[in-house]
Amino acid sequence: MSLLTRKIRSNVGESARPYFIYKTFTFANALTVSVPEVLGSQYGMYVWPCAVVLAQYVWTMRENIQRKKVLELGAGVSLPGIVAAKCGADVTLSDSAELPLCLEHSRRCCEHNDLPGVPVVGLTWGEISPELRSLPPVDIILGSDVFYEPEDFEDVLVTISFLLRRNPSGQFWTTYQERSSDWTIETLMNKWNLQCTDVSLDVFHANKKHLAGSTLPGNHSIQMMIVTAQTMM
Ligand SMILES: C[S@@+](CC[C@H](N)C(=O)[O-])C[C@H]1O[C@@H](n2cnc3c(N)ncnc32)[C@H](O)[C@@H]1O
Repeated sequence: MSLLTRKIRSNVGESARPYFIYKTFTFANALTVSVPEVLGSQYGMYVWPCAVVLAQYVWTMRENIQRKKVLELGAGVSLPGIVAAKCGADVTLSDSAELPLCLEHSRRCCEHNDLPGVPVVGLTWGEISPELRSLPPVDIILGSDVFYEPEDFEDVLVTISFLLRRNPSGQFWTTYQERSSDWTIETLMNKWNLQCTDVSLDVFHANKKHLAGSTLPGNHSIQMMIVTAQTMM
């Protein structure tokens, strides 16, 4: 197993001086991404099981994403977005505008992977903010584990719908964890003129407990779908 972890005490300007734990993900022995985690902190400070699955999909699609405009929502440590940037996509990362520490952490993750030029912007789901409006049309939106609070589902889809109206041929690639069989977004998808296609994890060899030399996604049941704008009949 090639998961590398090392603990480093670091001053990041917070009074608590968090420990970083560096996790390394290696894709096909060709690309290695190392991300610092701060455990027990905000949700966006560590890698969620969905992230490695989406990162593996991005890696599988690397030929198709070169020079594409890619935006990651709720990026946190930004593993899928960093893989996309390493594969030649023009990436912007985002997380909630109300979580500056999380945004700072996304920047830290980029810098740690020699990607200091990747923009990190505050985009809160459901808010059609000046920051969202000022983005150029996006080809691919990435979202790993952004459907985890049912009360946020519509806000996520509002943002997706806005972005796909800007570029109707755009796609939202998202992985999610099945936490309750009661949760559904079907009605909301129709409301916001969106449609989705499930992507079997078998197709990109992600139906495994351990991906990219890591211990993730473990036993979690992860699904992937591609969301696009509904086409007129
Ligand atoms: C479950 S974590 C997933 C983080 C990362 N995508 C991953 O899979 O490792 C959810 C992410 O969504 C962000 N988030 C939560 N509420 C948000 C909101 N209203 N708008 C934008 N981002 C939000 C969190 O800060 C966090 O980074």
